[in-house]
Amino acid sequence: MMLNFDVLIIGSGLAGLSSAIKLADNKKIAIISKKELSVSSSQWAQGGIASAISEEDSVAAHINDTLSAGAGLCDEAVVSFVANRSQEALKWLAEIGVDFTKDQIKNDLHLTKEGGHSYRRVAHVADATGRAVQNVLINKIKEHPNVTIFEDHIAVDLITSNKIEVKTNHKNSCLGAYVLENKTGNILTFSSKITILATGGASKVYLYTTNPDVSTGDGIAMAWRAGCRVANMEFVQFHPTCLFHPHAKSFLISEVLRGEGGILKLPDGHTFMHLYDQRKELAPRDIVARAIDFEMKKRGLDCVYLDISHKPKSFLLERFPTIYQRCLDLNIDITKEPIPVVPAAHYSCGGVMTNLDAKTDIEQLYVIGEAAYTGLHGANRLASNSLLECLVFSDTATKAILLEKNYQTYLLPSWDESRVTDSDEEVLITHTWNELRRFMWNYVGIVRTNKRLARALHRINMLRDEVDEFYTNFKISNNLIELRNLLQVAELIVLSAIKRDESRGLHFSKDFPKISATKKITVISPTDIYVKSEG
Ligand code: FAD
Ligand code: SIN
Repeated sequence: MMLNFDVLIIGSGLAGLSSAIKLADNKKIAIISKKELSVSSSQWAQGGIASAISEEDSVAAHINDTLSAGAGLCDEAVVSFVANRSQEALKWLAEIGVDFTKDQIKNDLHLTKEGGHSYRRVAHVADATGRAVQNVLINKIKEHPNVTIFEDHIAVDLITSNKIEVKTNHKNSCLGAYVLENKTGNILTFSSKITILATGGASKVYLYTTNPDVSTGDGIAMAWRAGCRVANMEFVQFHPTCLFHPHAKSFLISEVLRGEGGILKLPDGHTFMHLYDQRKELAPRDIVARAIDFEMKKRGLDCVYLDISHKPKSFLLERFPTIYQRCLDLNIDITKEPIPVVPAAHYSCGGVMTNLDAKTDIEQLYVIGEAAYTGLHGANRLASNSLLECLVFSDTATKAILLEKNYQTYLLPSWDESRVTDSDEEVLITHTWNELRRFMWNYVGIVRTNKRLARALHRINMLRDEVDEFYTNFKISNNLIELRNLLQVAELIVLSAIKRDESRGLHFSKDFPKISATKKITVISPTDIYVKSEG
């Protein structure tokens, strides 16, 4: 079956849905989402959205803090571009119905603080900002007559003019995508004038992550296979404080807890962050995560503790209702006792290279949100700059798309399943998933060495042969598609990490513990793996 749309949006997080809302009055749109629309990192965002709103703050200070967290690798023009658009982005959300938490005294938005920010700068909806934003977007998009929603569908691969040998006016154009309908196992062909990848990050490649299951780097892998360059894939952000509990999967304890006075402690109650940075708990994330990792390894600990029990109960209930309730459900009363926490993979700073309009190397293909590399985050993302990035680039991309008049849809070949059979070995896929995530955690985690990276690459190459064989011979499933993408993203992370012969931001290597004087971003191209030097 072939379906025709003006714009195909893959992903229903903030990047995908905000783009859809901005285009829907003028374009016929399809939104593809792996699970229900609400399943995304965006939905789980807690802290909020950074914007220099308060009187003592300034856009210049927001820019400086972003550059400083990014450890010399941010693209300054992009940082300025984004920081200057943050108020407009918040205004848009407020206009469509997001009810941000207000400061009762100042009668304005309440602003909270996170690591690396020199002022209170984070607009939020209590401690569940993402849920509040996504609920508004989902309700709005579901009503729109120009939008068709495909939940429980997973995009398999992009269809490009190069692959199917269709002639367009460009070297390589994206003409749509193949999409697996999970319920039936059918593969649908989507033909579109424009495709937007808004598929989020790849933190599921690690054993421990704050992300939902859908964050398997599909968009990055699909764009790479289609011919796009990727950049800075080695910079994986580990959030310092994920809840450590055998019955809690991936629950974040927001950095805002530290912003509002939470203190990190060892099991014996001693504090330790003063040993690592004068900003203590509010140092940028890479520093705090490494400090925790170091203390845990040195002392053989399973976790450290985050203590905010010294704050009044009424304050904690008002500011952190979600975290309070989730912890209480697990018999942890945050008003009385410290919370067990560990670092976990949280955010992919690298991704598919895009320009200020979110355009990629391939004509008719845009990438927005965590899947993109825009240059904003450099070697380490400043907290609460990611939702902002989704909003700013969905705005510029949709404005560019609305001006495009030259594209058409094409008659595309159907997916060829003539040579495949049903798999009776799903256990191999599950096993490989686990193996990959475990060695990525052990070998390509917070602290890296040449030997560990080489070992990881060797394992990836072996597993890829097995997975390729599966992919060629058996009917594809959601798990197999994700595993193939995870392996691809793992390879890109490891290759990028091997290229970086220094420690900077989120990439720390015991073999190169110093920062280099040369600032370079790691750019990898599918046709020619190389490193580009900048500055
Ligand atoms: P996502 O929101 O992850 O959405 C990706 C979408 O793509 C999903 O709908 C998924 O199902 C779909 N998808 C993926 N692959 C496919 C495929 N092959 N086919 C079909 N659909 C697909 N950032 C901040 O700025 N502030 C915060 O307070 C904050 N808190 C966070 C808290 C948590 C727990 C987490 C995990 C992240 C947080 N972040 C925060 C980071 C931020 O939430 C994400 O970077 C951002 O939401 C990414 O948005 P996105 O639209 O790019 O991707
Ligand atoms: C958090 O609330 O700690 C997450 C914020 C972010 O990742 O930007």
